[in-house]
Amino acid sequence: MRIVLVGPPGAGKGTQAALLAQTLSIPHISTGDLFRANISQGTELGRRAKEFMDAGQLVPDEVTVGMAQDRMAQPDAAQGFLLDGFPRNITQAEALDGVLRDNGQKLDAVLDLEVPEEEVVKRIAGRRICRKDSSHVYHVEYARPKAEGVCDQCGGELYQRDDDREETVRKRLSVYHSETEPIIDHYKAQGVVTTISALGSVPEVTERAMHVLGQD
Ligand code: AP5
Ligand code: MG
Repeated sequence: MRIVLVGPPGAGKGTQAALLAQTLSIPHISTGDLFRANISQGTELGRRAKEFMDAGQLVPDEVTVGMAQDRMAQPDAAQGFLLDGFPRNITQAEALDGVLRDNGQKLDAVLDLEVPEEEVVKRIAGRRICRKDSSHVYHVEYARPKAEGVCDQCGGELYQRDDDREETVRKRLSVYHSETEPIIDHYKAQGVVTTISALGSVPEVTERAMHVLGQD
């Protein structure tokens, strides 16, 4: 299956993507995680991306699109993938359309995670992620690790993301509304969008997503 997850910062895209990708046996491709991996490895791409991420802005398309295309071209993505945080504007959505068209493929579903802004603020304020692998996500109240400050999955140190400061979150939300939300209409025109509520427990949201994907 080829799936895109859309939703505001803190909606639970990364949390759901990890669970769904594992159940569906497809790779979870998060452009945010790819940037964070580049930052921790000290690459030139990471250095460029960090400037924009810390300001709550989108990393320029000429950096992002190539990186996402390279990842989608890896052998493990040949049978499908779950995109988390890409595409994030109309230019990126059109670039993805082009890649799929060239390969004779199409998207099976775009899941639009809907969540009120006050919930987003609570989720982001308590989020902790793993220093070794930023796709390992926790919450101090809603998704606690077994040992405080330590990743259950790999023992890495848990920390708060640099872009999770209140001011940056506000900027990320406004960028979401102005640049990312328009891709929902772009995909509605293709008939592949389903909006689901991201409120409730993590398993409840997963169940809704699996139902939409016809996997329940
Ligand atoms: P990215 O890393 O993609 O961040 P984001 O879209 O802002 O989304 P988040 O990762 O903040 O939230 P999420 O929806 O994944 O929620 P999570 O599952 O963690 O992007 C970061 C930056 O990178 C961007 O600002 C941009 O600069 C750059 N970038 C990335 N992609 C780009 C692109 N394509 N183009 C240009 N720039 C790009 O959950 C949040 C918290 O809530 C966690 O603590 C979790 O435990 C908790 N939680 C989850 N579900 C529930 C639930 N049901 N109930 C209670 N708590 C829950
Ligand atoms: Mg995420």
